[in-house]
Amino acid sequence: MTPTNGTPLLKMQGIVKEFPGVRALSNLTFDVYKGECHCLVGENGAGKSTLMKILSGAYTPTSGIIHFDGHDYKHLTPALSKSLGIEIVYQENDLVPTMNAIENIFVGKEMTRFGGFIDHAGMAERVHELMQRYKIDIDPTRNIEQMSVSDQQFVKILKALMNESRILIMDEPTSMFNVEDAGKVLNLVRSITSHGISVIYISHFLKEVVQIADRITVIRDGNVINTYDNAGRDVPLNTLTRDMVGRPVDMFYQKEPSEIGDVMFEVKDLKLTKDSPSVSFSVRRGEIVGLSGMVGSGRTEIVRAISGADPRYSGDIYLNGEKLTIRNPRDSIEAGIAHITEDRQRLGLNLNASVLENALMVGLQQKNRMRKGILYNCNSYAAPIQGIVEKLKIKTPSLQQAAVNLSGGNQQKVVLGKWLFAEQSVYIFDEPTRGIDVNAKAEFYKQMTALTHAGNCIIMVSSDMPEMISMSDRILIVRNGEICSELTGDEINEQTIIREALGVG
Ligand SMILES: Nc1ncnc2c1ncn2[C@@H]1O[C@H](COP(=O)(O)OP(=O)(O)OP(=O)(O)O)[C@@H](O)[C@H]1O
Ligand SMILES: [Mg+2]
Repeated sequence: MTPTNGTPLLKMQGIVKEFPGVRALSNLTFDVYKGECHCLVGENGAGKSTLMKILSGAYTPTSGIIHFDGHDYKHLTPALSKSLGIEIVYQENDLVPTMNAIENIFVGKEMTRFGGFIDHAGMAERVHELMQRYKIDIDPTRNIEQMSVSDQQFVKILKALMNESRILIMDEPTSMFNVEDAGKVLNLVRSITSHGISVIYISHFLKEVVQIADRITVIRDGNVINTYDNAGRDVPLNTLTRDMVGRPVDMFYQKEPSEIGDVMFEVKDLKLTKDSPSVSFSVRRGEIVGLSGMVGSGRTEIVRAISGADPRYSGDIYLNGEKLTIRNPRDSIEAGIAHITEDRQRLGLNLNASVLENALMVGLQQKNRMRKGILYNCNSYAAPIQGIVEKLKIKTPSLQQAAVNLSGGNQQKVVLGKWLFAEQSVYIFDEPTRGIDVNAKAEFYKQMTALTHAGNCIIMVSSDMPEMISMSDRILIVRNGEICSELTGDEINEQTIIREALGVG
């Protein structure tokens, strides 16, 4: 059990952080004891990442003081923060894809032997020691690009632990994971804290938070609302959501049924490669079809081939009975398909452009109102985009704000907004609510429902089981790149989905 009496190792006191037009943190106090897991939760834009960037030295606070191990600091720099043993594992991938895990862990600080030769054996040994100590099971000699997202995440964590860390910050570490891999991260957190290292853990998966946290702090609009002792792993989820939002929220969205019409969208004999299985399915007007399966089952690959994000070997795609020519994403946009990819930062947004420009990016292209790649007269569309910003509750001081300055979850909402404005007819959503807080999720589900009521259809890939179950009219189970079963009505339940996905039916 972790002692949360005595003096904390870290105390951030009276922290204020102002950006132009935004007060991200107001007079916030937050502390961490040695060896505890302290979770931070709050709505998108509440200030969680900003507080952690102050701790990692990336941002200078406007005012406040940081007490760490008996010393006081007005602000930290990245170098100072690292030298104190504070390490942050970012969500963005900062590993070199063409190097293996060991090389990545030691990049820029390679161990050398007598004569200045790189000590490959020594480095490998250090990595194996660490893996053993923290019970991490990966093959560190594989190149990063050949590793799964979750193994890459473990490499990032190993890299941080190599530096004698005292506090490890994890900002949404499992947002790209399936349940099984997320479980591995939770075990790792336990093993890290048992070695006396403190973990600050940020997540929108509140169940996960209650499983792992010794204490939980809820922040809202840059203020601490409450800090709970969670030694008994028993803080109620609705207490957390009420504090996050300021009023009780219903976490279980009840979908309003929509009228399901004739077949609207059809995929016939789609093959990704010459030897891959052939995939055929159709979606009706007003229908939401969920593609479910284990991570790596091929769900994402199927939808990427449909929208032209990746090439396909063969197969035909029909919309309203008409065969479409889709060779690339542009063709699919023109045909009326929206594809919201799982990787928002890399594929969904132009981070340096404004919220307005991003939101108009597809819609205006679609309406041929873009010349030579430059949007003109954006401002005449400010009103409809402002409407979308309000509907999705995108937290931004203005439409002119650069997307890079929005919080992670609000960036994701801009991606959704962009496609809503584009008014497509077939919507492909791949992990649409990753990183989105509970309250905004409910808003997003309302928008999905509105799309189907307006006569569109939706294909959804999601690892979020409650989302899959409550939103899908029909579920197709993908296994080894193949659609192996179809579930409707009462068959849509967690047990059946898992059984079919694993193929143990
Ligand atoms: N560099 C910046 N410039 C301007 N505003 C910023 C900057 N960084 C953060 N903000 C603003 O500060 C507020 C807090 O953002 P922060 O990223 O800390 O939120 P968060 O709690 O991590 O949210 P999420 O759950 O969406 O990741 C937001 O309104 C955000 O737009
Ligand atoms: Mg964040």
